Amino acid sequence: MTNISDLSVNIAGVRLKNPVIAASGTFGYGSEYAQIIDTSRLGGICTKGLTLNPRTGNSGIRVWETPSGLLNSIGLENPGIPAFIENELPRMRKLGTVIIANLSGAATEEYASGAALLNDSDVDMIELNISCPNVKAGGMAFGLEPDTAAALTAAVRRVCTKKPLMVKLSPNAPSLADVALACVKAGADALSLVNTFKAMAIDMVRRKPVFDNVTAGLSGPAIKPIALRMVWELFDTLKNAKVHVPIVGLGGIACTQDALEFLMAGSAAIQVGSATFAHPAAMIEIIDGIGQYMETAGLSGVGEICIAR
Ligand SMILES: Cc1cc2nc3c(=O)[nH]c(=O)nc-3n(C[C@H](O)[C@H](O)[C@H](O)COP(=O)(O)O)c2cc1C
Repeated sequence: MTNISDLSVNIAGVRLKNPVIAASGTFGYGSEYAQIIDTSRLGGICTKGLTLNPRTGNSGIRVWETPSGLLNSIGLENPGIPAFIENELPRMRKLGTVIIANLSGAATEEYASGAALLNDSDVDMIELNISCPNVKAGGMAFGLEPDTAAALTAAVRRVCTKKPLMVKLSPNAPSLADVALACVKAGADALSLVNTFKAMAIDMVRRKPVFDNVTAGLSGPAIKPIALRMVWELFDTLKNAKVHVPIVGLGGIACTQDALEFLMAGSAAIQVGSATFAHPAAMIEIIDGIGQYMETAGLSGVGEICIAR
């Protein structure tokens, strides 16, 4: 369905036609879904987590369904940034939407070298992943404490001179607020939250943890109320600190109401992850639903949905 509301938003200088972005790791490189949905309707697409060199990912079981969410331990399987730029990015550019490269790594130098390549590429924005709970080195280890998060953000910022930098925060940090403020001070232009929650499952038959790494990341409806609370609190933290960077909220968003709650809580845009697996058209329905809500409520811009002040 079409609507006449202007759903466009501006995230760190990048204009998105609407505030709905496909979350990293749940939409491949977009082309896979182009046969199923009209990807040009999306506000943006975050790539699967990219590292400088190719990674094969984790051994053993990688996804496990729970009653209200999904556990995953993919381990950042990806072709490496040079191959992404050569093979995937040209295809992605034809999808008609904003492309956000999700950058990960095991060490600061690896992150910085990857960022330098992406800085000279055709992506629109970099999402710095300091929150992946499924890798032994790097990933979430950078996102738990303000000092390490700031040092990595600064190192990437130094080489990332042409692209806006959004830092993706971990809900597993003892103080998400402190990490967020440190990242902004170190040069982040936007903040996305949340990545998955560290969790686990046990296989009763094998009498062993399901995952070879024991722990995995929980996503989906189970985390939505917690992620929403984190967005609400971060909005307040940033306001009190007089820090003006956009928040991109995610975690368990599966329908229009979920998305509206995150926009009300202070998200400038939202991402949809696990919901796409069960329902590939979820994002399209959410975009239409936000438009209908704005028309019914007589709102002329997405920012007017926010109730957090
Ligand atoms: C299978 C799977 C793979 C993921 N891979 C990545 C990744 O590579 N980089 C990243 O930043 N987040 C990754 N995530 C986290 C999601 O982008 C998102 O932050 C999280 O799933 C919460 O959103 P959701 O509840 O809507 O899925 C992954 C999530 C899933 C389920």
